[in-house]
Amino acid sequence: QAYNEKESLYIALNFAKTFFHENLQSGEGKSIGLSYLKERGFDMATIEKFELGYSLDGWDHLLNKARTSGFEETNLLKAGLILERENKPGNYYDRFRGRVMFPIHNLSGKPIAFGARIMTQDKKQPKYINSPETAIYHKSDVLYGIYQAKQAIRQKENCYLVEGYTDVISMHLAGVENVVASSGTSLTENQIKLIKRFTDQVTVLYDGDDAGINASLRGIDMLLEGGLNVKAVVFPPNEDPDSFSRKAGKEGFQKFLEAEEKDFIHFKIDLFTKGAADDPIKKAEAIRQVVLSISKVPDPIIRSVYAKESARLLGMEEDILLTELNRQLLKNQ
Ligand code: CTP
Ligand code: MN
Ligand code: MN
Ligand code: MN
Ligand code: MN
Repeated sequence: QAYNEKESLYIALNFAKTFFHENLQSGEGKSIGLSYLKERGFDMATIEKFELGYSLDGWDHLLNKARTSGFEETNLLKAGLILERENKPGNYYDRFRGRVMFPIHNLSGKPIAFGARIMTQDKKQPKYINSPETAIYHKSDVLYGIYQAKQAIRQKENCYLVEGYTDVISMHLAGVENVVASSGTSLTENQIKLIKRFTDQVTVLYDGDDAGINASLRGIDMLLEGGLNVKAVVFPPNEDPDSFSRKAGKEGFQKFLEAEEKDFIHFKIDLFTKGAADDPIKKAEAIRQVVLSISKVPDPIIRSVYAKESARLLGMEEDILLTELNRQLLKNQ
């Protein structure tokens, strides 16, 4: 073949994307896949924008289609699209079967991987399965939605960070396009560098459950360490940006974001004092938590601005807070 390995993977991924997408036009793909996407409120324009699709429920639909189109099995295997049967070398089957398909695009809009969601509540199968790492897909370097968001991120000078594929898509439907997803894993340095190419301001919008709050706390500190300005919005219990935006509607959702957005200092104070700001134990914990985050900020000038602001908000002597901050900075070393 005239293509190098990476190039041939891009071609295979693009072929699969088109196949999955065209499956939505008829038969099972239309009656099951497209219906599911429509039920979630995704219109055709959005389905096209994100190039959503459906993988037919069978062992070799993609495999056969790709074979007849001249693709080598070794190439499809390296692309993460098929798997080899155990104890049956040379015997392959489709990785993605009977799932709605979310292509993951790189910065230039080429599909490099897929997220695939099951449509029934089958406890035996994971809700999402994803492409494995390949020569063109390094999960920790990628943010879902970056291609569709990059212009809006520059223009709005802010990037919303959500957990899931459907959060990104529903936010576009709600008129908010400057949004990317970490896809349910903790943020990496390379993902933060990717955001920094477009803006230095991030607003974390994780799910309103304990897992989401804890992920927000980790994410906030990493973003601060990366030198970004960080804000956060807390969603009501058991809501995520997708579910909440559909309940609140376009305008309601945008108003909610505006009203609930807090800088990381407010976010942490509210979280750790939980309406009992007078409780000395809780207040002490909030102080320690805020100081811990401030200690991650690399720029000493910005650090001192945050320290001043926190002392004011917490109603305490700045000196005491600075002492605690210096203690923490030494500890971090
Ligand atoms: N995820 C995953 N594998 C799983 C569960 C989750 O890769 N078994 C990733 C997906 O990228 C998913 C994100 O983590 O989008 C957030 O997970 P979750 O909140 O459980 O899913 P939602 O995105 O809310 O998906 P949906 O609304 O379709 O339930
Ligand atoms: Mn189409
Ligand atoms: Mn979640
Ligand atoms: Mn979610
Ligand atoms: Mn969801």
